Formats: sequence, structure tokens, C-alpha cells
Amino acid sequence: MSKNKYIIIALDGAAGSGKSTTAKAVCQKFKYIHVDTGLHYRSLCLYFLNKNISADKVCDYLSCNSISMNSVIDDFSVYLSLDGHHFSSEQLRNQEMNKNVSYYARLPELRNLLLNYQRDLCAYGQKSGFSGIIMDGRDIGSVVLPDADLKFFLHADLSIRQQRRSSDGETDSISGRDKLDSTRKTAPLVCPADAISINTGLHTIDHVVDLFSQHILSLG
Ligand code: DC
Repeated sequence: MSKNKYIIIALDGAAGSGKSTTAKAVCQKFKYIHVDTGLHYRSLCLYFLNKNISADKVCDYLSCNSISMNSVIDDFSVYLSLDGHHFSSEQLRNQEMNKNVSYYARLPELRNLLLNYQRDLCAYGQKSGFSGIIMDGRDIGSVVLPDADLKFFLHADLSIRQQRRSSDGETDSISGRDKLDSTRKTAPLVCPADAISINTGLHTIDHVVDLFSQHILSLG
């Protein structure tokens, strides 16, 4: 691999497929920055819930208000702040958020609001001294970063994904969210045709990280 090439990796998959765990381990290994775009949707969802704005009122709100979006780096991850405030993981990962987030994430206006911000994070990671970026979500390889150097798609049986969420202490109706995320009109969850697909239910995390590493090292 050319020593100075900044590597852009798109990582998609359903809830509980292992995206964050894998991305964090690979980012530490290669000094890449990790972007969890699920947290972007969770942050906006909580932002609107706090203002008592239901999903069907978001479009009206955005037509006469703007939201300032900034980035905060913590270790190997970058987080979104809204109007100068970034929510904690406890505020974003709980039953209430799991129940609501897909109804906000399916709004084209919200997705548009995030699209350029998410694309700009590639340059932001490079300027901040990282050697590459892994952005994870549902539409990263298909919509946000269609020209990524590598695309991965992680999947696992529903029972395994549900079990992972329970052992993380989260109450999450994964099958309901899967349905909303993969059947919406704008940027649904899909496996891009050029993605490397991995069933994480068949491998240990170390093996999945090895598979990623082999593909990264084979780039150049
Ligand atoms: O990955 P997660 O469970 O934290 O994602 C939260 C929700 O955000 C999920 O229901 C789908 C949505 N999402 C999305 O629509 N597009 C993305 N790129 C990332 C997440």
C-alpha cells in the first residue's frame, strides 16, 4: 500500500451485526478514525424529542430553523455535536431511542441534512492526522461514500444479533427496526454489489478483524 494513501472504508449492516466492535478494533490497529453514523441519527432524534417535535413535524421545523453541526474527536472516534452540545452514549443508547430512531432516520430531509456533513468527515479525519476512516451505518457504501476504497457488509442471524444487544444490556426490537430500515424509500439498508460480505455469526471478532486487515493490506 502506498505509505501516504488515506484509506476510506464504508461499513454497513443491520443492528447488532458487529459494525462498531469491528470498526473500533480496526481503527485502533491502523490509526483510522471511526464514525458511527447511527449515533448521528440517534442525536438528531433526541434533539427533536427534547423539543417535542414528532417525526412528521421535522420537515416544517427545518424549513424555518437551522441546526449547527460540529465534530468532537475522542480517541479514535468522532462524534456529532448539535448546537454546541453532544449527547452521552447513555442518552443515545436506550430503549426509548431504539424505539423512536428509525422513524426519524427514514425522513429524506434529515438524511439530506447529514449527507454533506458525513462526506466532509473524510477530509476532517485526514486533516486531524488519521491514516484512514471507517464510517459505519446502513447507506454508507450505497449513498454516502459510493467511491470508498473498500466496502464491507456485516450480517448475522437475527437470534445472534438480538443476543448481542441483550448482553450489551440494551432492550431493542431488532426485527422491527430491521424492517423499517430496509424498507424505507430513501437510502434503505442494502448490501452494495461491490461490498465484501461477512457473516459475523460464523467468526470470532479477532477473525473478522483479520479479514478486514487482509483486505486493507491488499489495497496497494
Ligand atoms: O446503528 P444504530 O442502531 O445505532 O442506528 C440507529 C438507527 O439509525 C437505525 O435504526 C437506522 C438508522 N441509520 C440509518 O438509517 N442510516 C445510517 N447510515 C445509520 C443508521
